[in-house]
This record gives sequence, structure tokens and C-alpha cells, in this order.
Amino acid sequence: MAGKRLILMGPPGGGKGTQAKRLQDRYGIVQLSTGDMLRAAVAAGSEVGKQAKAVMDAGKLVSDELIIAMIADRIDAPDCANGFILDGFPRTVPQAEALDELLASKGIALDKVIEVAVPDSMLIERITGRFTCAKCGEGYHDKFKQPKTAGVCDVCGGVEFTRRADDNEETVTARLKAYHAQTAPLMPFYKQKGLLEVIDGDRPMDAVTTDLERVLGS
Ligand code: AP5
Repeated sequence: MAGKRLILMGPPGGGKGTQAKRLQDRYGIVQLSTGDMLRAAVAAGSEVGKQAKAVMDAGKLVSDELIIAMIADRIDAPDCANGFILDGFPRTVPQAEALDELLASKGIALDKVIEVAVPDSMLIERITGRFTCAKCGEGYHDKFKQPKTAGVCDVCGGVEFTRRADDNEETVTARLKAYHAQTAPLMPFYKQKGLLEVIDGDRPMDAVTTDLERVLGS
């Protein structure tokens, strides 16, 4: 299914990033995570990073204007020509409308919007247990996905791991609130367009991947 343009939606900690990385490898389409882009901007100390940091630490949404400009720029890169998986974008109705305009101006369209649905009660444990290899970015979890050898990354052998500044219970609660108030209204928006598929994300990672592959085809 080369050439596909997808949105992966779902609550914080619902498994969007985990699954987007798998789909990226499986279908040869690039993952575009606005959260990762913002964290890179914060780490680089850029103007965008300075504007975004306090908002992210509070679990709120960064301004539509900043996010839309960031995606418009990124989607023009050559690695997006074969398709992309939007992970964490759009998150508000104005972002979704801007995306429609952006794609229309390029003469391209979305193929599918997939919601990975997970109940709120599961999310705090998933997020507070998450950690990432500092060298290659492989994601792990204290309970659900531990490295085969404790303290050593399965993928690159790295021995340093990081945890996100916003992965604490207080910020997760604010992120969930923002999700229900600002992002959940996108489901009817895309359902009305006939693009929405809902996947049960409250199952083991491999079962979720199998379901996504069923929806996306070969
Ligand atoms: P962002 O980085 O997008 O964070 P998020 O949406 O809160 O999502 P997460 O990355 O926390 O979770 P995920 O769904 O990717 O889950 P994961 O696969 O890691 O955004 C961060 C901040 O940036 C926002 O709060 C906002 O401030 C700003 N921002 C970003 N985009 C924006 C936008 N468009 N507009 C405005 N502001 C924006 O999984 C979580 C853990 O669970 C992992 O440890 C994983 O191993 C484990 N896990 C995954 N799947 C399973 C499973 N099936 N079973 C058990 N464990 C699992």
C-alpha cells in the first residue's frame, strides 16, 4: 500500500507512536509526529521550541498557527512523496481544516483516518511507565515492553534511556482533558467524510498492529 496518506489518532499514550513506527517500516511511508518535532525544537532551543516548552509541560495544546506552519513545511520534504502517517496531528478542528486546504493545494488527499481507541483508565499507567533509548529512540515500557537485557537497548545496544518531561500523572490528566475537549470532535469530522476507521487499542501491541494491517491492506 505504498503512497498512502494516513492520520493515526487516539488519546495520549494510546499507542500512536508505537504503531506509527511499525507502519512506517511495514509500508515505507514516513511518520510525521508533531510531538517529536516539538521536542526536537525544544532540545535545539529554537524559537519554536521556546514558545512550545511551557505549553507542553502544562499538558496544553500548542497554537494552531505554529503547528500548521510546522507541518506545511515538513510535508513538502522529499521523503513525504511516497506517503505519510500523521501522528498527533491534527488535534483541533482548525488544524484539520488547514490540513484539508494544504493537501487540496497539492492535489492530494487523505486515504484513511484511524482512531486507536483506548479507555482513559489504561493511559496513566502506559504513559508513566514509558521510556526511550537516548541513542536510537526505540520506545520501551516498565511493564509492557522491557528490553530483553535490562538496561540495554534491543535495537542499538545503547545504555542510556530518557523519560519525557510531560510523562507525569498531573500533566497526563491535563493532556487527557485537552484530548476530550479539542481532539475528540475530529472523529465525527472525519466520519462524515467517510474516512474514519476505529481500532481497539486496548489489546497487546502485536494484536493492534495486525488489526491496522487488516484495515490498510497489503
Ligand atoms: P505527543 O508527543 O503527540 O503526545 P501524545 O498525543 O500525548 O501521545 P504520546 O506520544 O504520549 O502517546 P502515543 O499515543 O504515541 O503512545 P506510545 O506509542 O508512546 O504530544 C506531546 C505534546 O506536544 C502535547 O501535549 C502538546 O502540548 C504538543 N502537541 C503535539 N502535537 C500537537 C498538535 N497537533 N497541536 C497542538 N499541540 C501539539 O505508547 C505509550 C506507552 O504505552 C509506551 O511505553 C508503549 O510502549 C506502551 N504501549 C503502546 N501500545 C501498547 C499496548 N497495546 N499495550 C500496552 N502498552 C502499550
